[in-house]
Amino acid sequence: MRLGATLRDALHAQDPDGARAAAEVIEALAGAARDIAEVIATPATGESLGARLGSDNSDGDQQRKLDLVAEDICREALRGAGVGPYLSEETEGPLTLDPAGSLAVAIDPLDGSSNIEVNGVIGTIFSILPAPDSARMDPSLAFTQPGRAQIAAGFFMYGPQTRLVLTTGAGVDVYALDRASGVFRLMESGARIPNGGAEYSVNASNRRYWREPVRRYIDDCCLGAEGPRGANFNMRWTGSMVADAYRVLTRGGVFLYPADSRRGYEQGRLRLLYEASPVAFLTEQAGGGATDGLSSILEIRPSRPHARTPLIFGAADEVEILRQNHLVTSATARDARTRLGAGV
Ligand code: F6P
Repeated sequence: MRLGATLRDALHAQDPDGARAAAEVIEALAGAARDIAEVIATPATGESLGARLGSDNSDGDQQRKLDLVAEDICREALRGAGVGPYLSEETEGPLTLDPAGSLAVAIDPLDGSSNIEVNGVIGTIFSILPAPDSARMDPSLAFTQPGRAQIAAGFFMYGPQTRLVLTTGAGVDVYALDRASGVFRLMESGARIPNGGAEYSVNASNRRYWREPVRRYIDDCCLGAEGPRGANFNMRWTGSMVADAYRVLTRGGVFLYPADSRRGYEQGRLRLLYEASPVAFLTEQAGGGATDGLSSILEIRPSRPHARTPLIFGAADEVEILRQNHLVTSATARDARTRLGAGV
């Protein structure tokens, strides 16, 4: 078995039947991740893995060779693992892998594609949901559930080591791949996001497009010890959410990909079902928070399979400051609308 006994025991203790099904899916994904890590580590002899294919995925992102290789590996690994409805960043819409499958999987097979050509950290993000009976006829019905319905979620990170960050709803565990045996070994159980980490992660080149609550938060951080936050903040942005999420999990601080005024970014960039929701589940299970500014990410019902959402996640203290900033701004806007309505 690729994940060792610990995970299976933990899952089994919660719900023997559901656990068996979820464990099978996680095992299949662990096998896929081991194969993807191997592909990444092997120098390409032909076309480079980062080569742009001239095609776009369902949501307009340019596809790289490794995006499609990872998609094939994940999809094949999940066939025969009890997965019914399947949604990937690389598929046009939801598919059915096994009509009798009791679970649904939403997946980003290769997160952080722009880091492939620079040998940076990239990853695979997944979310496991129950498959409702209605989804036997129409797999898209499995992907109208809010993130709160997730049974398990996690990501694999292909960096100096291949790691798995996993939650099955009872805390967050971190595993590392032992390449010699192909087994993911437990490194840390019950990971917690520390408060008090003065570090933020945002693509700051978009500052001119941000809305007031985010701009105010980052400007306050930039003012450092002399500003309202009274502390010097550090900034990190890898362009690969898995790497930034892992750093936040380890050191605290906050990650933001907000909505902004660019065309197509009105709801931010990240996809709800296979990027934001799994990371939000992990974050909450590690004691942190995840919000679109006003609502918890885990409460949002997807409006369509590839729906995007503004995403802020991290340590509870920083996420709360951002939530307050959004509340103040929306209350001010409401007051202004009321005054206009009353002809003041
Ligand atoms: O598409 C997902 C993603 O690659 C994330 O991993 C990352 O956080 C983000 O996009 C980077 O976006 P940008 O290139 O706009 O900074």
